[in-house]
Amino acid sequence: MSADKTTRRDFVKGGTLLAGGLIAAPLLSRANYFSGAADTIKIALVGCGGRGTGACLQALLTKQNVKLVAMADAFRDRLDSCYKQINADDLTEWSGNKGNVKNKIDVPEERKFVGFDGYQKAIALADVVILDTPPGFRPIHFEDAVKQGKHIFMEKPVATDPAGIQRVLAAAAIAKQKKLNVVVGLQRHYQNSYRELIKRKDQIGEITSAQAWWNNDGVWVRPRQPNQTEMEYQMRNWYYFVWLCGDHITEQHIHNLDVINWFKGSYPVKAQGMGGREVRKGKDFGEIFDHHYVEFHYADGSILNSQCRHIPHTMSKVDEMFTGTKGKIFCGEGKITDLKGNVIYQFDMKTENDPYQTEHDELFAAIAKGDYKFADAENGAKSTMTSILGRLATYSGQVVEWDKAINSGLDLHPKVYDWAAAPPVLPNADGLYPVATPGITKYA
Ligand SMILES: NC(=O)c1ccc[n+]([C@@H]2O[C@H](COP(=O)([O-])OP(=O)(O)OC[C@H]3O[C@@H](n4cnc5c(N)ncnc54)[C@H](O)[C@@H]3O)[C@@H](O)[C@H]2O)c1
Repeated sequence: MSADKTTRRDFVKGGTLLAGGLIAAPLLSRANYFSGAADTIKIALVGCGGRGTGACLQALLTKQNVKLVAMADAFRDRLDSCYKQINADDLTEWSGNKGNVKNKIDVPEERKFVGFDGYQKAIALADVVILDTPPGFRPIHFEDAVKQGKHIFMEKPVATDPAGIQRVLAAAAIAKQKKLNVVVGLQRHYQNSYRELIKRKDQIGEITSAQAWWNNDGVWVRPRQPNQTEMEYQMRNWYYFVWLCGDHITEQHIHNLDVINWFKGSYPVKAQGMGGREVRKGKDFGEIFDHHYVEFHYADGSILNSQCRHIPHTMSKVDEMFTGTKGKIFCGEGKITDLKGNVIYQFDMKTENDPYQTEHDELFAAIAKGDYKFADAENGAKSTMTSILGRLATYSGQVVEWDKAINSGLDLHPKVYDWAAAPPVLPNADGLYPVATPGITKYA
């Protein structure tokens, strides 16, 4: 293949070839790929739930020539409801977007895959994959997408245990070698206000401490239905099982912890904290806590005080704040002050964007041009690890060190994924699951 015959499509498909050295790197210059812009970028969606449906629509709403060609979900009903939503004559009702994207959907019955193994077949059919299952499966799916040489959008968190983090880090290194664009759904990185604040972070001098909050009422419950196997029940009600969800400190609070890591330019070296469950009692709530309070220590001596709570009728706050030697950054308000409280920068909130759309716009624009621009997986893994570190600290009540935890080999996953197989945690005779007890529970 000569350089001038190489089209954007070759780039889209070419990660594996590049890694193998079969195509010389200079072929990735933009000029080579503009000519191929008419090519269709094929998308596969893996995990067709609430966020997967939204992310898929955002991908289809980009300006590029894209087509959804394959879908995979553990459950047929979830896949069908996603397909119906995406394929609606009018998207206004559920998405606020007028019109439809029907001409960008081509998913006949034979390209709809159901069950635990469907992801491999869906990924094989695409140039770009959207990975949107519960985070417990992300390492497996990400690894496979990288192996198959695909560009990737994957939701946060990217794992639920240190073994999963190691798999994602290893696959992230291969994705870099293959020049596969990887965007992780930590969308504050794609949000105008955060991008403006981080540019100006030196105005507050050295960061000495930070605060992060994800406090609100909590999320959905999907109660047990008759005739479900234990595996199906846990897969449906996944939020409440650590192997699938990671607990809410991982599933939601990761956004805030990630912002602190991003502005600090580093990850914590140890953590200690406390947590438990006050209102999350009963059979529907699996094994997760409803509150965590963690003190994360960074190598430079600075501290992040982090709190997350899922308790109705308590103070709601989702935000981050930094204190430095010369001032403070208030992320939610888009504001920087000096230490006396005088405002020295105010982001114009009228210029805020929809970061969920922007992350797809930028990813697909890069792919269409043949640019290699995004390598979010390593940070996604390390910010996910930050949240896991916090969970290990609150579950055990001990000081947990990053290096020991990430290398602990802790693997929460079942050996077999099958509807009849036993998940890693099982209820007692009363239908209740074991819950971590600080002081007794060992973290690994
Ligand atoms: N960035 C954000 O702001 C944001 C917002 C919401 C959710 N999320 C993330 O998106 C992910 C999905 O969350 P959601 O709210 O869409 O949950 P959901 O339950 O609505 O959807 C998950 C889907 O994945 C399917 N699934 C489960 N295991 C699977 C497997 N092994 N193979 C294929 N499909 C499988 C489920 O059947 C379900 O349809 C989570 O990681 C969540 O943290 C991110």
